[in-house]
Amino acid sequence: MEYSFSFFQKSADYLKSRVPYTPEIGIILGSALGPFAQDIEDPICVNYSDIPNFLLSTAPGHAGKLIFGKIAGKYVVCMSGRFHSYEGYDFEQLVIPIRVLKLLGIKAVILTNAAGGVNESYRPGDIMLMKDHIKLTGASPLRGKNVDEFGPRFFDTTTMYTPRLRALAKECAEGTGLTIHEGVYFFMTGPQFETPAEIRAIRILGGDTVGMSTVTEALTAAHCSLPVLALSVVTNMAAGVLDQPLTEEEVSETGRMIATRFSSYMKKIVAAM
Ligand code: HPA
Repeated sequence: MEYSFSFFQKSADYLKSRVPYTPEIGIILGSALGPFAQDIEDPICVNYSDIPNFLLSTAPGHAGKLIFGKIAGKYVVCMSGRFHSYEGYDFEQLVIPIRVLKLLGIKAVILTNAAGGVNESYRPGDIMLMKDHIKLTGASPLRGKNVDEFGPRFFDTTTMYTPRLRALAKECAEGTGLTIHEGVYFFMTGPQFETPAEIRAIRILGGDTVGMSTVTEALTAAHCSLPVLALSVVTNMAAGVLDQPLTEEEVSETGRMIATRFSSYMKKIVAAM
């Protein structure tokens, strides 16, 4: 399926009719990081199923609504529930959320994810600021006819994880008690967790965390010149690092453990942006 500019405008126009202000920052919450949304003041919730041309979230731990409101005095829009290729979506469909948020007028996006720790010096509960990514499988979300209104056919990705925002997030980490790293996120399509051999290969290739999201959104944002801050929360050590199987429960458990500190860190970042 190929999308025209008006396809995205239809979703944005609907949302503009529901929300009487322009959000400044878009936030996408990863698996197990949903509790942050409870801190949004004066929330206006819009179910994905009510938005024309939008997608539906099917992943566990993903609520499926846009929440507009205020964090630290700033208007934000938060996606509680995101879309992944493992749900059966085509890569081309995964441009939808970021493009709609762009048309709503956001000036930057914060992407968060739960990820496996590939770098053996990382620990569950640590946060990695994404300075880059590696995506060798799956297609680009920008595949297909280019929508020139958003950006050029060929575009640069050198500084797609905006250095200024990363520096700001590093400063905000001081005094939070969180351990912050900067590193490379390795995209895998999932839904199965990786094999130990894949994780060894990913480590050799330069990945520090591994996960099944974020990169499609970051590429869509880079294409339409939207600054990106991306945070990986290490919810588990990747396959084969420890002598134990990975479970979805471990991912949620670490999410719960870090929820309060993560939320106050996010608030500090939004306030400083
Ligand atoms: N691999 C891929 N995705 C993930 C992981 C992992 O180990 N943990 C949380 N999301």
